[in-house]
Amino acid sequence: MTTPLTLSHEQPLVPGWATGTITLGCDYNPEQWDETVWHDDIALMRELGVDLVAINIFGWAQLQPQPGEFDFARLDRILDLLHAAGIRVNLGTGTSSPPPWLARVHPETLPQAADGTIAWPGGRQAWCPSSSVFREKALELVTAMGDRYGAHPAVMLWHVSNELGCHNALCFCDESARAFRDWLRVRYGTLEALNAAWGTAFWSQRFGAWDDVLPPRATRSAGNPAQLLDFKRFSSDALLDYYRAETAVLRERSEVPVTTNLMVTAHIQTQDYFSWAPELDLIANDHYLDHRLADPLAELAFSADLTRGLAQGGPWMLMETSTSAVSWQPVNHAKRSGELTRTALGHVARGADSICFFQWRASRSGAEKFHSALLPHSGTAGEGWVQSVELSAVLDRLSPVVGSRVHARAALVFSWEAWWAAEGDSQPSRLMRYLPEAHRYHRAMRALGVTVDLVAPGADLSRYSLIVVPTLYTLTDAEAASIAQAASGGATVLITPFSGIVDENDAIRAGGYPGAFRELLGLTIDEFRPLAAEATVALSSGARGSIWSESVRVVDAEVIATFVEGPAAASPALTRRAVGSGAAWYTATVLDDDGVLALLRRLCADSDVPIVEVGFDVDIVTRRSPSADFTFIINHRDLPLTVPVAGLDLVSGETVDDATPLAGGSVRVVMTERSDRGA
Ligand code: GLA
Repeated sequence: MTTPLTLSHEQPLVPGWATGTITLGCDYNPEQWDETVWHDDIALMRELGVDLVAINIFGWAQLQPQPGEFDFARLDRILDLLHAAGIRVNLGTGTSSPPPWLARVHPETLPQAADGTIAWPGGRQAWCPSSSVFREKALELVTAMGDRYGAHPAVMLWHVSNELGCHNALCFCDESARAFRDWLRVRYGTLEALNAAWGTAFWSQRFGAWDDVLPPRATRSAGNPAQLLDFKRFSSDALLDYYRAETAVLRERSEVPVTTNLMVTAHIQTQDYFSWAPELDLIANDHYLDHRLADPLAELAFSADLTRGLAQGGPWMLMETSTSAVSWQPVNHAKRSGELTRTALGHVARGADSICFFQWRASRSGAEKFHSALLPHSGTAGEGWVQSVELSAVLDRLSPVVGSRVHARAALVFSWEAWWAAEGDSQPSRLMRYLPEAHRYHRAMRALGVTVDLVAPGADLSRYSLIVVPTLYTLTDAEAASIAQAASGGATVLITPFSGIVDENDAIRAGGYPGAFRELLGLTIDEFRPLAAEATVALSSGARGSIWSESVRVVDAEVIATFVEGPAAASPALTRRAVGSGAAWYTATVLDDDGVLALLRRLCADSDVPIVEVGFDVDIVTRRSPSADFTFIINHRDLPLTVPVAGLDLVSGETVDDATPLAGGSVRVVMTERSDRGA
C-alpha cells in the first residue's frame, strides 16, 4: 500500500516525488465511459507506464445530479481500481463546471460580459467568480470530497477546480460590482483616495458615493484606464480568493498537497500568477502549442521559463499538454513523428519534472472529440500510441534529472500588470504590444543558446549578469530601484521602448518619459513617434526598426546608433550608459530579428554570458544537480546538428563527444559530472 504523502507547506514539492522518475500522467474522464472500459484503460495505463492520473475534473454533475443528492459510488470505484493498480491520483475537486440545475435554481451565479450579456450554461465554467451562491454550493462539494477522500491512499495531489479563469475571469454582474467596491475599499481606504488614483477629475468621472463605482462595463467612448487596470487586479484576486477558499476546506480535512493548473500561455492574460504562485504547494502549468503564433516552439520555451519563474527556479509540473492536435484553434495541427517527445522534453529541459496530458482516452462525444489523447481513436494500433510509448521510454531514462535545477545567468523581467496596462485603450499606438516584445527578446536568447530566467519586477536580480526589461510600461518606484541597483552592481541591463512611463495607477510619471528609468538611462524622450503598420526605419547600425520610434534627448549616455530615416531621423535609437560597474542600455524602437540578435551578442559579450549559436529551431538548456550537469539539446529541424557538449547521453545511452552529430528531429540529454561538485 502506498503511504499518503505528507509535506510541510513551506517545503518545495518536487513533482517527481511520486516515482523518483519524471512522472508521466494524464487527465482521465471515466464519467464518459462504461465501467467495462475502465479495466482496459487501467491495463493500458500500466502498459504505458502512467504514474499519475487526474480524475473528477468535470465530475460535479455526476456526483450531484440534483440539489442535495450526492452519489460517490462510481468515483469510489475508479479510485480503488487505480489504487489497486498502483497508479497515483491527482484528485479534482470537481467544481470547475457546475451541473445544469445550478443555473436553473440560481441564475444569479451566471457570469456577465461587459455589455451585460449573460453567459449561459451549455459550455463550461459558467459561473461568476464573486458569486456567493456558487461558492457555497461548490464548497459543499469540496467538503464532501475532502471528508471522503482526504486520506485515501491513492490521492497524491488535490487539483482545485480546473484552469481557473479560462472562460470566466472577468465578470461584470452586480455581485461582481459589489465585490469590486469591497476590494477597492481595502486598496484605497477612502473614496477620495480612489478618485485621486483613478484620475476622476477627467471627463466628470468623480465619484461622490461608493455605490456609483462600477466595473468597467461597456461604454460608448474609451473608458478610464486606471479603472480597467484595477478591475484586472481585482478579477485576478477574486479567483485567487476562490482558490484559497477551496484550499482551506481541503487543508482542514487532508494533508495531501494542493494545487491548480495555471495557464501560462500567450492567449490568457487575466491572472497575475506571480501573486498566485506562493499559494500553490506545487506549480503546475497547462501548455498547448499555439499555431496561431508565428513561432509556437519559441512560445513553448517562454511559457516553460515563466512557469519555472513562478516555481522560484525549482521543478514544476506540466499538468496538461496534448499528444498531438488540439480542437480549439482555427486549424488544429497534428504533431509530426517525434514531435511529442521533442515538445515534452522542451518542458523537462526548462524545469518540469512531471509531464501530464489532456487526456488519457480520446472522447467520442462533446466539443473535444477531435482532441488528441494518449490513447487515440485509433487505439493501440496507430502511430499515436507508438509516439506515446516512445515518450514514456525516454522519460524513464531521465530519472537522474529529477530535482535538478535550470542554470541561468540571464533574466527577463516579466509583468502581468505591464501586459494589462501597456495594451489599454488610447495608447500612442495599438501596434505596440507587450507580449510580442517580451517574446522577441526571449526567442533571440533561445536562438543564441542563452537560458533565461523570467522574473517578476522587484525580484532579487543579484545573480544575473544580463537583464532584459521589455516594455515595462508600469512599475513601482521600488521595482525601478531594484533594476537600477542591478546595473550599478555590475549587470548589463537592456530596457526596451514604452517602459517606465506610468506609475501603478497608470498615471504619467512627471518630468518627462521614461520617468522611472530617465536617470538610469541618462536620457529623456521628447516625443513618441510611432510608425504606420507596415513601415520600417533604418538605424545607423544596419538594424531596422518597426512599430515605434521616438525623439530621444541624451543627457548622460553614449549614442550607439541613430535613426537614419523616418519621423525620428537623426535621433538616438540605441544608447548605453555606464552605471557603477554595470551598464544600462536603451533601444528606442522595436528591432527586427537580426537587430535583436546583434544587440544581444554584444550584450552577452559585455556581460560574459556564453552563447552557443544554435538558431531558432534548437533548444539547448542545462539543468544542474549537486553532482552533474544535464544538457538538453532538442533538434527541431530535419537536418543534423553538431553541438559542443560531451558526456553520457541519457536518451541513447551512448557517450558523445563534441563532434558527434545529433540527427535531425532528435533529442539528447548529456550528463556531465561536475568537477566543482555542489558549488
Ligand atoms: C484545457 C482544459 C482541458 C481541455 C484541454 C483541451 O487544458 O483544462 O479540460 O479542455 O484544455 O486542450
